[in-house]
Amino acid sequence: MGHTLLTNQRNLTGTIQVPGDKSISHRSLMFGAISEGKTVVDNLLFSEDCLHTLAALRQLGVPIQVDEAHQHVEVTGVGLDGLQATNQPLNMGNSGTSTRLLMGLLVNQPFPLTFVGDGSLSQRPLKRVTDPLQLMGAKFEENEGHLPITMAPSKGLSAITYKLPVASAQVKSAILLAAIQADQPSVLVEKTVTRDHTERMLQRFGGEIKREGLTLTVTPKPHLTGQHITVPGDFSSAAFFLVAGLLVPDSTLVLKNVGLNQTRTGLLKLLKCMGAVIEISERADDSEPTATLTVHQQALHRITVDANDVALAIDEIPLVALLATQATGQTVITGAEELRFKETDRIKTVSEELNKLGAHIAPTKDGMVIEGQTPLKVIGKQNVDSHGDHRIAMMLAVAALITEGQVDLQDAEAVAVSYPTFLTELERLCGGVIA
Ligand code: S3P
Repeated sequence: MGHTLLTNQRNLTGTIQVPGDKSISHRSLMFGAISEGKTVVDNLLFSEDCLHTLAALRQLGVPIQVDEAHQHVEVTGVGLDGLQATNQPLNMGNSGTSTRLLMGLLVNQPFPLTFVGDGSLSQRPLKRVTDPLQLMGAKFEENEGHLPITMAPSKGLSAITYKLPVASAQVKSAILLAAIQADQPSVLVEKTVTRDHTERMLQRFGGEIKREGLTLTVTPKPHLTGQHITVPGDFSSAAFFLVAGLLVPDSTLVLKNVGLNQTRTGLLKLLKCMGAVIEISERADDSEPTATLTVHQQALHRITVDANDVALAIDEIPLVALLATQATGQTVITGAEELRFKETDRIKTVSEELNKLGAHIAPTKDGMVIEGQTPLKVIGKQNVDSHGDHRIAMMLAVAALITEGQVDLQDAEAVAVSYPTFLTELERLCGGVIA
């Protein structure tokens, strides 16, 4: 469905409370399900991706009570040995996090399980998860490393010592969730630091994990205890408003209760390098740090972005590309080949779609070269397309705010994957008027 975006905006002003963090929401449901006792989750993200995790766990016999109006959920943990077989496939929808983490979590069950997903998810690589799980003893009927995949009943899991070939928190988490069910401690070596929500949550639920540099040692601990989790606002959702506040003339935006886990906030470092000043106040810390962010529109300059930066800002690179179109000078992004394996090939979709608005972005094998201070402008009406990718849809809606002309977004409903009310919220801040 097409959606006419707000263009040519000024004076974006207001306070925003972004919804709960997607990564932490998935993990709190999963840990709650396999623990003993009740897990209460406040501020859970009710978006399509998280609802796929919730539905899969219910399908496996986990009682989950939902009060969607208050983003409140109660999971009655059944323990790893209390899950029930299902003869229907588990539908992962568009969600890579549900697929990869649930494959690790469920790899030691005494019954077979089949995972299916939508067209985009069925193109995304899963050998990166099935390879290490096979080394631990799992057996799969797989379709060249893509969904649909069937896992055979487990005959027990051996510990693993494994060097991760990709910088991926999803792959790391899948192995960690399997490793708590193995016969001995496992050792994982990360390629570079990636988000550590699984490690934090494992400790919170009573597990044992140690980090030394890039090396993680996890002790088998199949019996965990239910917890009360309050999910912080999602930094990756807040990032769209941060960038809107920086780019739209005369803007001031206040973002409350944003998760500021350092393994997620690489964008803040990149913004600082571009010359931006973001005010951080009202800091708090309950397993995961949070704060209020205040942003004003300001001038930016070029940066270079490498693989270490990318890992800490993996979901924000489309926004970095947009920022770079408005910064002085040429920005070069390298080490971002993982973007090719997201909900779309984001190197391709970011460059193609922003170029339709007048940007000059050259895609490279592992990144982009972006020419700075290019006014975004279209003649008459221009269609842009999310290609079903939620983060591309939201980035394009932010880009449109600083574009002259009319921009229609195809497949705008993709935002429901991580932020169902995003467009309404953006329109509220703009005064709700479509230009
Ligand atoms: C996620 C990890 C990232 C990220 C995704 C969520 C997670 O993927 O892109 O949106 O919750 O672990 P990779 O770790 O595979 O890059």
